[in-house]
Amino acid sequence: MKRPRVLIEEWLPAAAIGVECIRERSTGQQPPDKRLHVWWARRPLTASRAAVLGSVLPADFPKEVFEKLLGFWGTSKQLIAAEEYLNYARATGSKVRNPHGIRAFRATLRSEHVEKAHEAAKKLWRDHVTIIDPMAGGGSIPLESARLGFKTLANEYNPVACSVLEATVDYPFRFGSALVAKARLWGAELRRRFNKRMEKFYPPHGIIPPHCYIFARTVPCPDTKHHTPLVPDWHLLKPKSGTRQVARPHVDKKHGTWWVDMVKIGRGAGQISEAPPPSYDRGKGISLFTNHQIDPDWIKAKAQNGEMRSAMYAVALKTTQGLVFQPPTPDDLEAVTVAERELDRLRAGWEKANVIPTELYPKVSSDERPRTYGMPHWADLFSSRQLLCFGTLVENLVGMRGEILQSEGHEVGEAIYHLLCCSIDKFLDYNNLLCTWESHYCPANTIRQVANSFPC
Ligand SMILES: C[S@@+](CC[C@H](N)C(=O)[O-])C[C@H]1O[C@@H](n2cnc3c(N)ncnc32)[C@H](O)[C@@H]1O
Repeated sequence: MKRPRVLIEEWLPAAAIGVECIRERSTGQQPPDKRLHVWWARRPLTASRAAVLGSVLPADFPKEVFEKLLGFWGTSKQLIAAEEYLNYARATGSKVRNPHGIRAFRATLRSEHVEKAHEAAKKLWRDHVTIIDPMAGGGSIPLESARLGFKTLANEYNPVACSVLEATVDYPFRFGSALVAKARLWGAELRRRFNKRMEKFYPPHGIIPPHCYIFARTVPCPDTKHHTPLVPDWHLLKPKSGTRQVARPHVDKKHGTWWVDMVKIGRGAGQISEAPPPSYDRGKGISLFTNHQIDPDWIKAKAQNGEMRSAMYAVALKTTQGLVFQPPTPDDLEAVTVAERELDRLRAGWEKANVIPTELYPKVSSDERPRTYGMPHWADLFSSRQLLCFGTLVENLVGMRGEILQSEGHEVGEAIYHLLCCSIDKFLDYNNLLCTWESHYCPANTIRQVANSFPC
């Protein structure tokens, strides 16, 4: 078919788009559509918008308007110069003010620029401008196309990606911000019901509810057979500036037990000069009881034989002075046992009702570690108390579905239900056995806490 030449075939400010794509990927600064749910191979929004516009605009479309439509804070040349300046500063270790303006994906689109694009596209294609992404994945291309106001179609065959597409690309345009407020209200109700059922499994420390529990995986020491912790880093707090705090392990070799106390790194009274050595590094362990190395194959064999355990060694409390760490109290430890018993009581029914997963972790996977470390089922990725939270959340949300649909109507109700399902996924991301304690995420106000619910 003979078709007109389009802009992307003629010219594209690729280097400047690259600069904005890097800025878009900055840690903690990613666009909101990337945060709701994980999807792989998501394209940056700036590149997606450039691809959409470049494919429908004529080759002679004004370059300066194109750059404005991409959301650039300056010209391509200015963007590249600013990035080079930053790279130079990074290389020389000098501190400079950020020379960049607003990130492209955040910039508000100006209606006169969008109208110009629509006029030009219409001239070229008459009324047939439709953007189709036949393999839409996480939806960067359809999202940008819809933001520009083009008729947009997205196709995808993976159910997870379809769910992400619906929630992040379809809902915002269909329901607007009213959906956010409603989803928040129902989310608060879900949290209230969940907290009511779960609070007995999370005893407060005085008047302070725990913010987080830190566990170590343990295996039997090859020589003594006492369970010894595998801890790659004993830091509890590792701020960029300020005092570091660690858990310091102690052992009672006679009774085969270990425990920690909390100390600061420094030169003051009671402080220690450096963190205790890790008891786990790149697959190998070190026994606290003998100081001998533990072979990686021993650790894997013990894990696959169901002999790897978890031991709580610190509780983080969120106070007005920031995070305070304490060793677990007998109540903390007892609560874990009570939760285990409660899960045992509910488990068979929950498995039958598909409330918690029964599926095997895939045999062919890009990450074999769950199987290698004794977690052949998806459910094995959670401790008993975490699984109890998982099941309680699912059970409560499924129970609320009828109420939500009745109160909000079918269409909006289903959208709210869908978003709350995504919130459970987020909860699971931060409450499973594979989570690591991020000691550099401090002070307390930057520590991630999911839905203000119980950290398990
Ligand atoms: C690289 S990702 C897509 C990235 C996306 N276009 C974007 O701009 O962010 C490829 C997607 O194509 C989907 N896919 C692969 N084969 C497909 C098919 N035959 N039909 C529909 N989707 C397919 C995959 O599930 C995956 O989500």
